[in-house]
Amino acid sequence: MTAQLIDGKATAAAIHEEIRAEVEQLKGEHGIVPGLATVLVGENPASQFYVRSKQKRCAEVGIRSFGHNLPETASQEEVEGLVAELNANPEVHGILVQLPLPKHLDEERVLAAIGIEKDVDGFHPINIGRLAMKGRKPMFVPCTPAGCIELLDRYGVEIEGKEAVVLGRSNIVGLPVAMLLLHRNATITICHSRTKDLPATCRRADILIAAVGRPQMVKADWVKPGAAVIDVGINRVEDPTAKRGYRIVGDVDFEAVKEVAGYLTPVPGGVGPMTIAMLLRNTLTSAKRAAGL
Ligand code: GUN
Repeated sequence: MTAQLIDGKATAAAIHEEIRAEVEQLKGEHGIVPGLATVLVGENPASQFYVRSKQKRCAEVGIRSFGHNLPETASQEEVEGLVAELNANPEVHGILVQLPLPKHLDEERVLAAIGIEKDVDGFHPINIGRLAMKGRKPMFVPCTPAGCIELLDRYGVEIEGKEAVVLGRSNIVGLPVAMLLLHRNATITICHSRTKDLPATCRRADILIAAVGRPQMVKADWVKPGAAVIDVGINRVEDPTAKRGYRIVGDVDFEAVKEVAGYLTPVPGGVGPMTIAMLLRNTLTSAKRAAGL
């Protein structure tokens, strides 16, 4: 069996087009331009790349972006001061503080300083708290987890009643994606470094979400035939034949797993583009909400 490829790039492009049309309408009918502020502290090359990509996509759909770069040495007060300014700026509908922050900064306090109505990343403790509870509605849901669910939905993968295994328990992906799957009535297992017999546990999954940051860790015999496999990993591996000397691979051994899985996301071109699509959607939602629409 060869898996159906889940094309995140094409799906994200379709969502961008939906957003672009809505942004245009919002401008035309109400004179509102959605705005996203990005806060980047330090010079982590991966973070710089992600923030640039987010800004570029904003421009393509007509969302205004406000880029703020602070030095690696920025103090807690400086970062929180900037966030307070952005909270007060009515042209800013979404605030994204790129993670990870330099070690001397208290991430929890920075995220808690973001107004929950502008928390388009969904990482504010109140939004995460609401996500973790039954029947509560977060203002926003974290973007990468939302992108995983959107891909399953758009490809017609049923979630309700299914066994879902999440590999990884990070605050950014593993934990929130497990919550989203739970709210959709899947039965959830979260695996981590202390889990016994990972292959057997993963093999139970109808839906397997790999978000551990280990290149090609998930092998063909970890996957139940026909399962939907969503690969969130973005890992650099050395490749002397590549122009840059490295290439990007996911957490899943793509070539082997595609022979077993029913659905599979590639890396790159799977979940990655969806993260940005969900961020743009959250920013648009925020702008509409701020205007009472
Ligand atoms: N670092 C890795 N992923 C993300 C994300 O989705 N949002 C932010 N703010 N930082 C990240």
